[in-house]
Amino acid sequence: MKNKVQGMSTYKDKIDLTRVPTHIAIIMDGNGRWAKERGFDRIWGHQQGVVSVREITEAAAEINIKYLTLYAFSTENWERPQSEVDALMELLIDTIESETPSLNKNNVRLMAIGDLSRLPKKATEKLQHSLDQTSKNSGLSLILALSYSSRWEITNALKNICKDVSTGKYGIDEINDELVREHLTTKSIPDPDLLIRTSGELRISNFLLWQIAYTELYFTSTHWPAFRKESFYEAVYDFQQRERRYGK
Ligand code: FPP
Repeated sequence: MKNKVQGMSTYKDKIDLTRVPTHIAIIMDGNGRWAKERGFDRIWGHQQGVVSVREITEAAAEINIKYLTLYAFSTENWERPQSEVDALMELLIDTIESETPSLNKNNVRLMAIGDLSRLPKKATEKLQHSLDQTSKNSGLSLILALSYSSRWEITNALKNICKDVSTGKYGIDEINDELVREHLTTKSIPDPDLLIRTSGELRISNFLLWQIAYTELYFTSTHWPAFRKESFYEAVYDFQQRERRYGK
């Protein structure tokens, strides 16, 4: 049965399922503001944000998106008050643990990008367990960007390329786009077709700077905890109305 709201067709109905984006990346913003506007503390906003994470993962799987990358924790987020960092880490651990069976049931493969060595030991362990348990799944790949920043990633790639040059693995003239790509944490993942940022800020905040060279950008004022399936489908529909020329 088709999903109808008050007799109107929904954005999901309008999506052309034969040409959905392969990879959607999302900057999940506005948990704190959403909670404050309702008189609650920021942590509650993050908890409600987890509900959106679950909904959007489901929504992406339903229309056969292959890769969904979520900016869950940036390098800069380590500078937040310790109580908030602790709460986010705890939420992350709990969510990964409780959602892993459901990821498996839905054939979702969990992946992670970022400086994972900075995560607390318990978080790394739970994460690794879930990565291992879901590694054979062939449906949606859900990529969590954790302790991630693009400048960290590019700097790291540069260091590794310099090491390879110094040991003679290849020469400077052999460095090209493809070689840089292979040194990024996203090396096995195609570039995003669509980048969504919630909560009204019009910036990229150190997220996938190399990878979004030709990505379509979509900004919405909706805060992340209020961003649910229809909001996601609206963004995909908006994307499908655009013409991509890749600079040609
Ligand atoms: C932005 O809201 C959100 C974050 C910094 C973290 C997002 C984390 C979650 C949704 C929960 C954990 C994620 C997973 C994948 C289990 P903000 O705090 O920047 O809000 P504000 O801009 O209104 O202050």
